[in-house]
Amino acid sequence: MLKYLENDKEILEIAKKEILRQQNNLELIASENFVSMSVLSAAGSVLTNKYAEGYSGKRYYGGCEVVDMAEDLAIDRLKKIFNAEYANVQPHSGSQANMAVLMTLLKPGDTFLGLSLDHGGHLTHGSPVNFSGQLYKAIGYPLNKDTQQLDYDIVENLVKEHKPKLIITGASAYSRDWDYSKFREIADRYNTLLMCDMAHPAGMIAKGLLNNPLPYCDVVTSTTHKTLRGPRGGVILIGKDKENPMGIKTLKGDRLKMMSEVFDSQVMPGIQGGPLMHIIMAKAVAFGEVLSESFKGYAQQIKKNAKVLSDKLIKLDYKIVSGGTDNHLMLVDLTNKNISGKAAEKALEKANITVNKNMIPFDTKSPFVTSGIRIGTPAMTTRGMKEQEMEIIADLINQVIVNPENETVIENVKKDVINLCSKFPLYSELT
Ligand SMILES: Cc1ncc(COP(=O)(O)O)c(C=O)c1O
Repeated sequence: MLKYLENDKEILEIAKKEILRQQNNLELIASENFVSMSVLSAAGSVLTNKYAEGYSGKRYYGGCEVVDMAEDLAIDRLKKIFNAEYANVQPHSGSQANMAVLMTLLKPGDTFLGLSLDHGGHLTHGSPVNFSGQLYKAIGYPLNKDTQQLDYDIVENLVKEHKPKLIITGASAYSRDWDYSKFREIADRYNTLLMCDMAHPAGMIAKGLLNNPLPYCDVVTSTTHKTLRGPRGGVILIGKDKENPMGIKTLKGDRLKMMSEVFDSQVMPGIQGGPLMHIIMAKAVAFGEVLSESFKGYAQQIKKNAKVLSDKLIKLDYKIVSGGTDNHLMLVDLTNKNISGKAAEKALEKANITVNKNMIPFDTKSPFVTSGIRIGTPAMTTRGMKEQEMEIIADLINQVIVNPENETVIENVKKDVINLCSKFPLYSELT
């Protein structure tokens, strides 16, 4: 692939540097992953040339018969993964999937509830610097102060008080599973719509390893590039009514048809123009991989790795927010280590360990400094690392965090990181 960049030396240099960075770093950002060469090839394919505004069979442009096949396949595979009634694979990103859903279900000024940003929610769940906090009245629900876990009574009290039109479940930095049936009960009691943004845990939900929001939520969004291990992008899904164990009367028959049409038209022409057909084909490739038997082993290993890493950090006297992890990530509270999230992120970066600073619940530091870091296992699990490597990684992280200014320690950890990475080759086809 790189040979085609040889006529542009500046770009070639950048591309080579990034491959090398990915190969030689412990990638522990919970929202990142490494796509397969097949996904990469589809994302770099000639489908990037095609304008295909509209939907399969109903495009605004000629010459769409081939890209229609790619989009149909992506939709079919995604519906199969989640046993969904409806899927839209066009959102360019998770944020755009959320924007399309909020703009479908709410009018400007309407009230909705989402997990507070500083308790693990996402910008699009009501942050004042995002459209979701600017167009709507967003109320954040906090975690329980003692358990640092979801508290359904707190949610219900806020619903009672604010009478929102919609409740959003799902998060960017929450390490426990969600009981969507409890949210459904609350939504039904107060006649509220229910949505899940499963961007983070979607890959594990796909394989039945975490609770599935589709039977309970009126609509579900996801990104495709995190645990689903696909190209950067978003999707919107609606589950099958007959699966719904609560017998709720939300999306049935014609109403489902109507809702799917309004979601489609909110994505395009509502907020987007031409779909990224190369990315949609790459989504189809990734969904094919998720459907394979081997993906289950991968998803199981992500969880096992996160548990071992979290347990080992606890043994090393780290506080894990909410006491542990059920999924692919953990939030490490650094208050007892006398270092901010920002300083820890910087020191770890020097040792080729990539994490992100993250607010912890009831954080007293600003979002630019923070008291914690978020650590996730999807990317290193893709490289083939298992429990044994997670123990080593916890030790390496600890060495840096207790010696953030000791250049010798950092240099030694960096050598160990590069050595460990070399045992788990990545993109060797590209170098
Ligand atoms: C829960 C959640 N939703 C949505 C998004 C947005 O995805 P994107 O960055 O593709 O817009 C993220 C991204 O991290 C996320 O964590």
